[in-house]
Amino acid sequence: MNAAQITTRPAPDSFFALRDVHAYYGESYIVQGITLEVKKGEVLALLGRNGAGKTSTLRAIARTDDPAVTHGEIWLEGQAVHPMKSWQASQAGIQLVPEDRRIIAGMTVEENLILAQVAPNKGWELEQIYDHFPRLAERRQQEGVTLSGGEQQMLAVARALAREVKLLLLDEPYEGLAPVIVREIEHIVHGIKELGITTIIVEQNAVAALRLADRAVILDSGELVFTGSAQELLEDESLRYRYLAI
Ligand SMILES: Nc1ncnc2c1ncn2[C@@H]1O[C@H](COP(=O)(O)OP(=O)(O)O)[C@@H](O)[C@H]1O
Ligand SMILES: [Mg+2]
Repeated sequence: MNAAQITTRPAPDSFFALRDVHAYYGESYIVQGITLEVKKGEVLALLGRNGAGKTSTLRAIARTDDPAVTHGEIWLEGQAVHPMKSWQASQAGIQLVPEDRRIIAGMTVEENLILAQVAPNKGWELEQIYDHFPRLAERRQQEGVTLSGGEQQMLAVARALAREVKLLLLDEPYEGLAPVIVREIEHIVHGIKELGITTIIVEQNAVAALRLADRAVILDSGELVFTGSAQELLEDESLRYRYLAI
């Protein structure tokens, strides 16, 4: 089914919105009817246990081929995203920083960044990137895949900013990193928030995500079971225990 053909309602007023989005990997029904909104400049934490469908939801938003969105609508600034391919969504300003970072082998840090910039709708200049990511400036001539995990994460985020960003999707930016490095990446991400970049962050480290986020949703078996303020969730121990095991 082509999701574009089932759009009958007008675009929502919100900056970014999902309306009843369903997505499958082949026969596997994973994203089971998600509706949410993100205001301009807001950071939304998308939380939930392992396997809840967080990555799949981000991939559906970024319009990757898998999972296939079979029903529902995705809107960014009044523009229908659901009929788009991933390259079109990226051109429209939706930038996904994937869990596995996808640094391109055989290329330096700077070449990875320049490659991102050559696509239409360029974002930050190298100078601005290096201002925000001094470690990348130091390592600009080093091959990207030889960076430490934390530096690769910085490069993955920087590469997203090298494109025009209207909605930044961060999939577990703190995963697998030492606490001191997590703090460094957190600092960078908080700086990005201060610039007013609308963001959805997925994190197992829910407390760190909630420190950053304005609002939060919890996903469980592909459905939203909580929508509220980050503060509300930080204060609701039973909810956190039930769905996040923290
Ligand atoms: N490529 C895939 N093919 C089939 N099933 C998948 C694929 N990727 C993820 N899944 C399944 O979809 C469900 C949600 O996965 P995922 O979105 O990665 O969860 P989370 O990011 O919340 O840990 C899991 O049951 C997972 O096994
Ligand atoms: Mg995931």
